[in-house]
Amino acid sequence: MSTPDDNLLCLINDAKLKFNQYAETQTNFQAPQAHISIESETNDTTKVHIDVEYNGIQYHFESVEEKDINNIYQYLNSQHSVRAKYASGNTPSLKDTTARIHTLINRFKDKNSRLYLYSGFTVCDSQTDMFLGCANLGSGSEPGTSEMAFLNRQDCWSHPIDITLTNTLADMKTTNKKIYSGIGTVEVCTLLQYGARLKQDGYTIDGHPLKSIVATARLDNEGSWKSCAKAGMTLYDVGVVDHYGSKIRYQLQKIM
Ligand SMILES: CC(C)(COP(=O)(O)OP(=O)(O)OC[C@H]1O[C@@H](n2cnc3c(N)ncnc32)[C@H](O)[C@@H]1OP(=O)(O)O)[C@@H](O)C(=O)NCCC(=O)NCCS
Repeated sequence: MSTPDDNLLCLINDAKLKFNQYAETQTNFQAPQAHISIESETNDTTKVHIDVEYNGIQYHFESVEEKDINNIYQYLNSQHSVRAKYASGNTPSLKDTTARIHTLINRFKDKNSRLYLYSGFTVCDSQTDMFLGCANLGSGSEPGTSEMAFLNRQDCWSHPIDITLTNTLADMKTTNKKIYSGIGTVEVCTLLQYGARLKQDGYTIDGHPLKSIVATARLDNEGSWKSCAKAGMTLYDVGVVDHYGSKIRYQLQKIM
């Protein structure tokens, strides 16, 4: 008779196989090239702009600012569907969102911050300036590691879960509106290239040279782990990550 431990082991082995089989099909994937500019402003803030094109869409990443709080709250943090498979699955309040954005803004200001420049970006359509989502780097659990995360409004995912939004996608196809499928892939590729640039320019993470960028993704968050696999991240573990709750997650990395 199989025990719960056997079942768990089986689930983990199947998940590893699924990831590695998918990753195998992506070895010839050409990552989009991010154009990164890191500029010191007179008001002591460092501004980072990144431009990247993928599947015919031009994306613009920009270091977060106070003015972004409303979009981040309205389209991402207040939306259960967007947050459901992210971290612990909670939807933070406007107050918590504001505090978090202030923390990220400070990492572009305070050169003594242990995470100086390891911070967050808004992601927009360069042509229309439409807010699409946000992507960040932060500290990882091991010295010299940085963890990435990304969140996007649901109407630009390649597989939206909400029926009404699926209809919206069909409408968009017939009315020739833009379809942003691929944004997860763009964000992972861009954050990896930004991390490489920080390392090359000598920016340490919590006092350590950047060793690797890591990400976690729930097994049922296919868009998330596939985006990481396409960008060349590899699997180093499958299991529960205590601070993200009880769901089993892929743990992925890219050595820098
Ligand atoms: C995860 C997320 C970024 C994916 O965005 P996306 O734009 O759909 O991602 P991509 O289009 O780049 O997808 C990458 C791959 O995953 C596939 N994919 C995406 N969603 C999928 C799904 N629900 N089921 C199966 N495959 C899926 C895509 O088809 C693509 O694979 P392919 O090129 O082999 O066809 C987006 O859904 C999101 O913001 N979710 C909410 C926040 C979140 O969960 N963040 C991740 C945790 S850090």
